[in-house]
Amino acid sequence: MPNLWHDADMAAVSRIGGRALAALLPDLHTQRGPVYAALCDAVTALVLDGRIATETRLPSERELAAALQISRATVTAAYDALRDRGYLTSRTGSGSYVTVPPGSRPGPSLARWRPDAGAQDLVDLSCAALPAPPGALQDALPSAAAALPRYAETEGYEPAGLPVLRAAIADRFTARGLPTAPEQILVSNGAMHAFDLVLQLQVGPGDRVLTELPTYPGALDAIRRAGARTVTVPMAGTGGWDVAAMRATLRQTAPRLAYLIPDFHNPTGALIDPAARREVLRTARQTGTTVVVDESFVELGFDGRPAPTAAADSAVITIGSLSKPVWGGLRIGWVRASADLVHRLAALRAAIDMGGAVLEQLVAAQVIGRLDELMPARVAALREQRDALLGALARELPQWRVSEPQGGISLWAELDAPLSTALTMLAAPVGVIVVPGSRFGVDGTLERFLRLPFALAPERLDEAVRRLAGVWHRLDRTGVPARRLVVA
Ligand SMILES: Cc1ncc(COP(=O)(O)O)c(C=O)c1O
Repeated sequence: MPNLWHDADMAAVSRIGGRALAALLPDLHTQRGPVYAALCDAVTALVLDGRIATETRLPSERELAAALQISRATVTAAYDALRDRGYLTSRTGSGSYVTVPPGSRPGPSLARWRPDAGAQDLVDLSCAALPAPPGALQDALPSAAAALPRYAETEGYEPAGLPVLRAAIADRFTARGLPTAPEQILVSNGAMHAFDLVLQLQVGPGDRVLTELPTYPGALDAIRRAGARTVTVPMAGTGGWDVAAMRATLRQTAPRLAYLIPDFHNPTGALIDPAARREVLRTARQTGTTVVVDESFVELGFDGRPAPTAAADSAVITIGSLSKPVWGGLRIGWVRASADLVHRLAALRAAIDMGGAVLEQLVAAQVIGRLDELMPARVAALREQRDALLGALARELPQWRVSEPQGGISLWAELDAPLSTALTMLAAPVGVIVVPGSRFGVDGTLERFLRLPFALAPERLDEAVRRLAGVWHRLDRTGVPARRLVVA
């Protein structure tokens, strides 16, 4: 099968330096097998999960050896192994470029790659998202279609969103106890777009942005793209925020912005209690930090829906979306902020994409009015799936410590060895796609962790955990040399 990504004439789009690559790698000496093989594995994982884009030029062997303080021969051996396996191509006189082996396919999200796993039955645990509730979109279509001709008579550009949808989103905030006017809502193409707009308006190159550690990888990518520096605060060992650490980091670094997911945090599923939120908000006010709260999962609580964080502090910018409660394919999200900020965001947005699609917004306006009716079935299914995943992990991998999510779509597992990348590599050939813990942080740490979504039916989750346990026990017992773990 032809592989366009091997085209040697394709221009290099970027390069990564030795220090930057070293910062993304796990501690190679804690991995199984020879160091060169661990390096080859780690780079492979970075390519597969999209942290190093294809056509990126890797540092020279000498530069990487110096950055990692290992011998040049070790880096040469790693690059040779990457080349053998189809992840690196060298061009005389111009260096070594990242590529993917023939048969690799783009994954469903976040620019990930899927290695060729043959025809086997795949269980994909790489994405924390769900299909649409049956019928929800179809049911909304007739009245959306009926309203469309009226809009078709106008020019159709609404950078802040259709008034009918802005009002529906505002009403939902008001019903949750946070009085909101339609002028305080900007409709975006999803929560990611909403965050990106806020970053563009509020953050400049070199500014600091605080996040939880772990956090949603898409947010980390957006912060990096904005040229800002990420300052992370580890979540508490018991789950939830380490409030003292968060307040200390706010005081020490006075970040421009803090991006937080207090409502069923991705990836841990934690729900932050109101007192902790208030303390952090108070400190953020003192340090002049704008707090952005991502409410993507707020509708997916197992014990009800938390109050909006912005009710405790009117300066909080809230972003949200229909992607998790309804469907990512709708591409409908929002920002809730002051009317003035929304106006400025709309002006910025007009210069980027002019506005969202009208028909999708009309569908969303219908669906949002039915959320209370739609959520119970979705939440009940998620609860059952969470319990199935927790049960399977307790049975098959009791040595892992797992968070017990109070909502959301994923849990966070602490492995009994820092081998998340090696596990990811070994899991692919047995048909389980997982993302290593390090994807949820800014550097190669979090190798001891794995994010496991419970977006699939209980029997699929059982099957996935059974396969993962088989791989883990092999890794654990025999210390399989890392070079044999590389996806061929
Ligand atoms: C915390 C968080 N925010 C935002 C997004 C992206 O959402 P959207 O599809 O609305 O852009 C995700 C998707 O996984 C997420 O987990």
